[in-house]
Amino acid sequence: MNFIKNLEWRHATKKFDSSKKVSSENLELIKKAIQLSPSSYGLQLYKVLIIESKALREKLKAASYGQSQITEASHLIVFCNYSVVTEKHIEEYFALKSQIEKVDILDYKGYSEFIKADINNKSQIEKDKWTSNQTYLALGNLLNACAELKIDACPMEGFDAKEYNKILNLDEQGLNSAVIATIGYRSANDSTRYAKKVRKSTESLFELRNL
Ligand SMILES: Cc1cc2nc3c(=O)[nH]c(=O)nc-3n(C[C@H](O)[C@H](O)[C@H](O)COP(=O)(O)O)c2cc1C
Repeated sequence: MNFIKNLEWRHATKKFDSSKKVSSENLELIKKAIQLSPSSYGLQLYKVLIIESKALREKLKAASYGQSQITEASHLIVFCNYSVVTEKHIEEYFALKSQIEKVDILDYKGYSEFIKADINNKSQIEKDKWTSNQTYLALGNLLNACAELKIDACPMEGFDAKEYNKILNLDEQGLNSAVIATIGYRSANDSTRYAKKVRKSTESLFELRNL
């Protein structure tokens, strides 16, 4: 299975070759993989920033514990969850669903009200957790798409979300930086390229329950 071979090939790249860029064709494929990610109720309550600007990445590097991937990679991807979820988000989703499925929007009224009530019942902390969880599925698809395209990536949580929010003006859009990834091509000097995969054995990771 190629998928498994791809997963064995990929690694969280620490050192990128800054002279190599991800092509716009490949970037479109990665965007498509992110776009096709599943999400709770299908609402996709997040936005994905693609950052190429070196100057902006220099600022963000300072808010990422100086991790060199931020500036050496080809692109920095910032997955931002909506920290402010409004009824408008749900209405926009059903307007889109109605248009794509060619179904009268009024037919979704009951379902739409159900989702609104479910979300209104969540505390702000629960909403934040729920919407940021969705971004990790998109991150997973990015990593898998990159591996198939033989593009290196590093998923990263080592950054100051509050600083990112400030630098990227996310607060005013009701957004929050949840998780980031750098993509590009591994450097010949990347010591982690030879690292062995450290994973729990399947015996300890899985437990069969039949009762
Ligand atoms: C959510 C998440 C956050 C991570 N944050 C960082 C990070 O800030 N910096 C970094 O160099 N690696 C980071 N990593 C990479 C992990 O350390 C790496 O995936 C793990 O050690 C397994 O190694 P592998 O991905 O090379 O197989 C992160 C990985 C994940 C999934």
